[in-house]
Amino acid sequence: MRYIFLIFALCVVVVVAVAGKRGDLSRRPPIELFPDMDRQPKLRPQAPNDFFPDGRSSRLIIPGTVARGEHFEDTPANTGRLPGGTNLVESIPLEITEAMLNRGQQRFNINCSPCHGSMGDGNGITKRIGAMGVVADLHDPRVVKLTDGELFNTITYGKNLMGAYGPNVPVEDRWAIIAYLRTLQLSRLGNIDEVPAPFRTQFKK
Ligand code: HEC
Repeated sequence: MRYIFLIFALCVVVVVAVAGKRGDLSRRPPIELFPDMDRQPKLRPQAPNDFFPDGRSSRLIIPGTVARGEHFEDTPANTGRLPGGTNLVESIPLEITEAMLNRGQQRFNINCSPCHGSMGDGNGITKRIGAMGVVADLHDPRVVKLTDGELFNTITYGKNLMGAYGPNVPVEDRWAIIAYLRTLQLSRLGNIDEVPAPFRTQFKK
């Protein structure tokens, strides 16, 4: 304890001798403790650099590529929302074709039927093996009444127990699935008068 001040004073002298006083000017280069941090092999934005033949460090976008986070144009088909806001669209913003419904059926059977069942009634394989307790019945009047935008939102981001399918299912396929899901719902809600006359005989009364 007796020498603590002496030791401290010595330390100060040593530090000042090596590092100099604060604000001192020196002609010698500064001490670099981590030279690899001071001198990084990197390109500074907007600064010239001869690494690339055209001398630019900031590269131009390669034609046909899309920057990360910029994949969406703010259109209803991409976001399920009305442009410039957060309101979900009422109905599918794409033209519905037979090809789209076929695609939707295939994608529904791949992505949704494991839980919701190929009929959409919530009796998929995951329920039978007990992996999922309650799976929504997509014929539930509450789900039938959801807008297409809300369905798009549920597929994209998931809902409660259901995970997000946005990362697995591209946007056009989400709309195709919704279109097919609507036909599934209609198949239970429609009545025989809505079937065109030539096809009515195919249905049991
Ligand atoms: C891993 C199982 C699983 C898969 C796969 C799955 N879902 Fe679901 N889904 C659920 C469960 C569970 C619920 C009930 C969520 C809750 O309310 O807890 C649900 C709910 C829903 C609802 C009702 C949402 C609401 O507002 O109540 C819709 C619509 C739906 N799913 C559509 C789909 C579609 C379309 C697909 C295919 C892209 C799909 N789901 C794939 C498990 C799944």
